[in-house]
Amino acid sequence: MGIVDLRGLIQALEAKNQVVHVCDEIDVEPDAAQFAKAALADPEAGPALVFENMRGFKGQRMVMNTLASWKNWATAFDVDENTTVYEKYKIMEKRWPKCSRGRVKFIDNAPCQEEVIEGDDVNLYDFPVFRSNVGDGGFYIAKPAIVTVDRDDPENLDLTNIGMYRVQVQERNMCGLQVMFDHDGASHLRKYEAAGENMPIAICVGAPPAVSSLACIPLNPDQSEFKYAAGLQGSMLKLAKTSAGLPVPAYSEYVLEGEVLCGVREPEGPFGEFPGTYSGVRNQCRVKITRITHRKDPIWEELYLGDGHAEGNCMSNLITCISNTEAIRERMPNEIVAVNAMVAHGMVLIIAAKNRFGNFAKAVAYNAASSSAGLGHGKIIIVVDPWVDPFDYEQVFTKMAFRVRPDKDIIIAPYDIGMGLDPSNDPVGVSGRVMIDATTPVHPDHMRDVQQIEIDTTEKAALLKELLAGLRG
Ligand SMILES: Cc1cc2nc3c(=O)[nH]c(=O)nc-3n(C[C@H](O)[C@H](O)[C@H](O)COP(=O)(O)O)c2cc1C
Repeated sequence: MGIVDLRGLIQALEAKNQVVHVCDEIDVEPDAAQFAKAALADPEAGPALVFENMRGFKGQRMVMNTLASWKNWATAFDVDENTTVYEKYKIMEKRWPKCSRGRVKFIDNAPCQEEVIEGDDVNLYDFPVFRSNVGDGGFYIAKPAIVTVDRDDPENLDLTNIGMYRVQVQERNMCGLQVMFDHDGASHLRKYEAAGENMPIAICVGAPPAVSSLACIPLNPDQSEFKYAAGLQGSMLKLAKTSAGLPVPAYSEYVLEGEVLCGVREPEGPFGEFPGTYSGVRNQCRVKITRITHRKDPIWEELYLGDGHAEGNCMSNLITCISNTEAIRERMPNEIVAVNAMVAHGMVLIIAAKNRFGNFAKAVAYNAASSSAGLGHGKIIIVVDPWVDPFDYEQVFTKMAFRVRPDKDIIIAPYDIGMGLDPSNDPVGVSGRVMIDATTPVHPDHMRDVQQIEIDTTEKAALLKELLAGLRG
């Protein structure tokens, strides 16, 4: 039985001394973000934080950094924490096909609906929302799992989407919502707006860890994030229906129910984003919150976003690597060995691939650029030989140093699809792309007569491991 909710994860992390309870009184702003950023300094084993005593929010609790380090991530998804990132990737790659067949079930009396707030009582400022970075244009809900459905087939769970899109609290019951145009939530919205209708939405705060993780993964529109989340958590995912009939994880801490207002766009932002810069202010969707349901004694959940390591890197990037591998492998089933999309949510893609014939690696790069993995991402695509660990930057940079012929192996696409938060976009959504072939040339391409060095260490590595274990007890 895997971890099925945020509370279960906190409990499992407690058992590993991975939770720091901050019991002294804090101001949510600036203390919470500063604590979270300080814990992010240790990507390997940074703890989760529970704020027990927030000025102005007596009796409430807020948790941050639950999936922000590899130790926490490994605990959530039952992976041996003493593994390299590439080993974790291989473990998840093996599990992934089974994840697609995860089971879901609707239940009555869902925990997330134990308490109900409606009408004039809806007030988002009652919750510990805050500005993470001093230049943020308002209070943000930065770790929401947002559910939308396909207008033409709303009961179809495969077409239902969960996305993580930032939410700016703008009034007691009004929010701004940033959904990038290439995301499935935006496709859903286009259908509702074409019909002149508001789009129903459910914003889950404190969702089950597997759901939060899947909310950030670019699955195909007809792949069910709910089913994959069930597969990832290793047990059935229980669902409830909102008053508008939207499916939501039954073990979410909070569900904010509402509607995206048809055709309405108003200024949203700025917000400190993962490129390490503020996003600027742009016209974005407006959401009206009509009803809030929550568990008894609920836990608000937040994350910190800014320059450097952030929760998304562990929460979602490794699984993004798997879904990107799937997307790129579709057209090259025998050549793609592994895809590293860990850097900046896949803005850099490092692909280990077999060079079927001379310059095939360039076709691999074009493939990645035009696959769902490269859509708006993959600004820098590096292809390395299949024996290179694409997660080992020393290896990758060494190959770039010794395999890349600057006049032959660097392709620049000067005007291409960009990622709107990238400050180098001009205009927003337009960027160039660089593709680098760092593989060893094969016939009919050629390099000076050089021979790849190979040495088999399998047997000795196992022996060494044994000897070291004896030495270290
Ligand atoms: C912490 C975090 C915040 C994110 N914020 C946004 C956002 O505000 N808007 C957006 O469109 N995507 C955002 N993303 C990226 C999407 O969640 C991600 O691309 C996801 O795959 C989108 O899902 P979809 O393609 O199913 O719509 C964020 C990702 C993370 C990890």
